[in-house]
Amino acid sequence: MSARTWWRGTANEAASAAAGVLLLLLAQAGAVPCPEGCTLQGTCNEELGRCDCPRDRTGPACETELSAEALEQRCQKLGFRSSAVCISDGDNWCLNGCSGRGDCRAGFCKCDPGTFGSDCSLSLGPDGKPRLLADRGYTPRARGPRVYVYELPPAMNTWRNAAALDRPTARLFLERLTATGALVADGDNADWWFIPVTMRRAADAKTLAGALAYIRQRHPWWNQTRGHRHFVIAVSDLGRAETDRKAALGRLTHNMTFVTYWGNVRNRTDSDWVASHRNATDIVLPVFISPGKLRRMGAYSGRNHPKYDAKAPREQRERNGPTLFFSGRICGDHSLPRTDVWPSCATDVASGYSGGVRQLVHFHHWERTGFYINPTGINKKQAPTLETFNELWTRYGNHLLTSKFCLAPLGGGHGQRQIQAALAGCVPVVISDGVLESFEPYLDWNEFGVRVAEADIPRLHEILAAISPEEYGRKVSRLRCAAQHLAFSTVTGSFMGESGRFDAFETLLEVLRAKAEHPGVAPEGLRRADARLDAFMECREEGAGEEEEKRLGNTPGFEAVGKGGPSPVVVHAPSPQRLCSVSTFDAGDLAVRTCSKVFDLSARPYGPSAGLMCEASTDLVACPRPWS
Ligand SMILES: *[C@@H]1O[C@H](CO)[C@@H](O)[C@H](O)[C@H]1NC(C)=O
Ligand SMILES: *[C@@H]1O[C@H](CO)[C@@H](O)[C@H](O)[C@H]1NC(C)=O
Ligand SMILES: *[C@@H]1O[C@H](CO)[C@@H](O)[C@H](O)[C@H]1NC(C)=O
Ligand SMILES: *[C@@H]1O[C@H](CO)[C@@H](O)[C@H](O)[C@H]1NC(C)=O
Repeated sequence: MSARTWWRGTANEAASAAAGVLLLLLAQAGAVPCPEGCTLQGTCNEELGRCDCPRDRTGPACETELSAEALEQRCQKLGFRSSAVCISDGDNWCLNGCSGRGDCRAGFCKCDPGTFGSDCSLSLGPDGKPRLLADRGYTPRARGPRVYVYELPPAMNTWRNAAALDRPTARLFLERLTATGALVADGDNADWWFIPVTMRRAADAKTLAGALAYIRQRHPWWNQTRGHRHFVIAVSDLGRAETDRKAALGRLTHNMTFVTYWGNVRNRTDSDWVASHRNATDIVLPVFISPGKLRRMGAYSGRNHPKYDAKAPREQRERNGPTLFFSGRICGDHSLPRTDVWPSCATDVASGYSGGVRQLVHFHHWERTGFYINPTGINKKQAPTLETFNELWTRYGNHLLTSKFCLAPLGGGHGQRQIQAALAGCVPVVISDGVLESFEPYLDWNEFGVRVAEADIPRLHEILAAISPEEYGRKVSRLRCAAQHLAFSTVTGSFMGESGRFDAFETLLEVLRAKAEHPGVAPEGLRRADARLDAFMECREEGAGEEEEKRLGNTPGFEAVGKGGPSPVVVHAPSPQRLCSVSTFDAGDLAVRTCSKVFDLSARPYGPSAGLMCEASTDLVACPRPWS
């Protein structure tokens, strides 16, 4: 029978013959077929034989449209205010734009047949194992960590309301994994396994429990590792503590790594803060501050930029502002604190707000010469028009730039004052007993900041006065490197002349790599055990000469080649600048590539896929990987 006559059979015959061949191939490859017709409305995860449906469909092959009532219910659970928004294409965006291999249907990727995954980046190879962006020539980077991402059912992952995520860190991280080449498609080759659930509210613990049950049943790696080297990014206020409330889940996740904003290791009696951070496993990540907020607070014209001294307004250049600056809420109950009575807040509701630190600093120092502690902060109610609201922000940013020290207390849980201070170039004064700051202990906050014990708050002024000008100068110069670790520059663009090499996502990857390579080493010993991590935390590439280190850390576009070790890293002459700059100091500088795209806040809150590092790329595979 010739091919021609073969095709002349009835359509049904042809279809069933083709299906038979396909089934045979799939069976040989060890894959599981999806229910027939799945790809008409959904995406077939060919590895698992799972048919993923858009938000508004159900049934084994997504053949049924949800009733209005059922849709409403589902959407509410997913965090949408109405089902119209929930299924509107305009209000939802898809991970990586579905990698150009499918249609984005209200946040869900309906992948072209043969491709699958939450962003359609997967397909099966001839050996039956999943490949990543095979048609684009994706290759994992040579240097670890190799991170595998579990493909969870959409209800646990992409169905969630991404637009409502005020803390989109986990989604951004997913995109950076692809862009940096840290992502691997085969869990057998991974150093780490990432569970891509949103962990924002206490209720999300349920999603995690569901995800763990799912992956333990279908994949071998959790049982093989006993949960070690599995991680989530949990951006909830109180980190692991919010999920630990269920004892069973707490036990199950014992060996897992929580990457969180919250490094609290103590139970407090004055608040509901319970120990959350586990030193052996967990990592504190800086808060992701949105580009809009960074701009409003003046970070795009911060002191860490090498051009600051030449280009900043004269009145800002000298630090003639307050010795210590803080502006913001003092009382958990929103009352204005009194100055004559302790406790100084109107009620003891939420008296543990900020661990009581803001209240104590205000009470002891509100009138001290040189200290500026403004208990009203930037309050929309106080600023009836947008203009005055912007003026308040400008004033706030100006204070960050001109003050010598900036108080960096906690808030309801983790704060972000410490990050704001560091990014603006103000030496952060951290007061939070028993709470690890971002990347501690890999980053030593006492080198560029000042850690003060809560018991020492009454003599805070003496502690700051005892810091010599030389020591202060050393802190300021170290702040430039630390700030790079605390910023998500590869996403938001460069704003201190940095290349993005040492940004927060890169730092997270570097810490994960070092932890995987030295499984028995306690966090405090990791920098000693791993020379590359040690150099990285000082914004140097291991093996680079001093001059090269300086350029590598400071200049966007210098490309490092080589892998450290005994042979020195070679630094090329400037290659085309990789990461564009959003700094006001770089505007109009023809030697610097400035970012062309403006964030479209309505369509996609955080700019192009995987951030501005990939701004000039057609897709994530083409995103520059200057460091790996
Ligand atoms: C992993 O272990 C659990 C019980 O501890 C078991 O139910 C599950 O089937 C195991 N998973 C795999 C893939 O073998
Ligand atoms: C955690 O890891 C240890 C071994 O390192 C293992 O004995 C224990 O069972 C693991 N815990 C869980 C909940 O899997
Ligand atoms: C905190 O309290 C919980 C329960 O009350 C207890 O299990 C835990 O060991 C305490 N942790 C620390 C670090 O004291
Ligand atoms: C965890 O690390 C912090 C900071 O280094 C330390 O104060 C604390 O005692 C450690 N906790 C445990 C349980 O080792």
